[in-house]
Amino acid sequence: MERDNKALEGGGARPSSSGASVHQPVMPAEVLAGLLGDGAATEGLIIDGTVGGGGHARLILEAAPKVELLGLDQDPQILELAEKNLAPQIAAGRARMLHGRLTELGEILEREELPRPVGLLLDLGASSLQLDRPERGFSFQADGPLDMRMDPRRGRTAAQIVNTWDEADLADLIFYEGDERRARPIARAIVEGRRRATFQRTAALADLISRVLGGGGRIHPATRTFQALRRGVNEEGEELSAGLAAAQKWLAPAGRLAVISFHSGEDRVVKRFLAEAERDGSFENLGKKPQRPSRTEERENRRSRSARLRLAVRQQPPVQGDGELETTPGNVPGSEVS
Ligand SMILES: C[S@@+](CC[C@H](N)C(=O)[O-])C[C@H]1O[C@@H](n2cnc3c(N)ncnc32)[C@H](O)[C@@H]1O
Repeated sequence: MERDNKALEGGGARPSSSGASVHQPVMPAEVLAGLLGDGAATEGLIIDGTVGGGGHARLILEAAPKVELLGLDQDPQILELAEKNLAPQIAAGRARMLHGRLTELGEILEREELPRPVGLLLDLGASSLQLDRPERGFSFQADGPLDMRMDPRRGRTAAQIVNTWDEADLADLIFYEGDERRARPIARAIVEGRRRATFQRTAALADLISRVLGGGGRIHPATRTFQALRRGVNEEGEELSAGLAAAQKWLAPAGRLAVISFHSGEDRVVKRFLAEAERDGSFENLGKKPQRPSRTEERENRRSRSARLRLAVRQQPPVQGDGELETTPGNVPGSEVS
């Protein structure tokens, strides 16, 4: 049986006409329909908070000529690719790329004095452009250093987690962040294995996990543990919460939020956030269930298979007693994107 090694990850990679690699954007039609409230007539700033190689960003800029786009990514190597792939739109002053994390988004909006965005896209997790580079340490299929940091400013690598965390913490990480039912035997084997030699390479760790779990499954045995380590290294839970909080604080009234997640725990966080936001009147949730890729997309882009898209619209802030609209710190006068 063919193994679906990257089914838990983001989209697929293919070369662009400029020769630079691009990541195949997941659920492109659904994202455009959800994010562009007025379709091609949409005006204002859209933030792609996880711009990656710029796949969705380019589609947005092409579909809505009056939109300006700020692309944020925590990975400077990937941001360089986005800059290449979006060079015409950047040169035309319609797009700008910035290095940063979702936990820094509010600070960036304030510092840059940007207008409140009319849309925010979060396409979570890793890009194929990261997963396909063994030297970044995300891959269990090709050997590389056990790193997995998307943002090089982060201190802690996957090797540090694997070699220093105690067994119970490792098991919890692998269970909760990787949805790996057999987290305990894996954690035990890691702790025993590192007594002989610390883990520094992805292949050594992947081999150990394969020995613990055995083969024969639909996915490589190390898939879920590697996902858990990636999520731990990059603090993806905290980053998602910060991205959702930024949407609540900064989106303009009627601004639209689109979140694509690839992990059940992550989708649960988005679902709960939107349910709570609907109760307090800050968002209208567009659909109780997440949208899923079509069968055709799943066939053509295997990495889209675990994608879930949730959409919501920011509601008008409540009118206060004196009839004045409540303002938020994000309500700063607009400056041009570039
Ligand atoms: C799935 S890819 C996005 C692909 C993009 N939508 C496209 O179509 O090309 C996710 C990207 O988000 C970035 N990323 C993940 N978490 C982030 C965070 N908390 N802050 C900023 N960037 C993040 C990753 O570095 C990666 O490049």
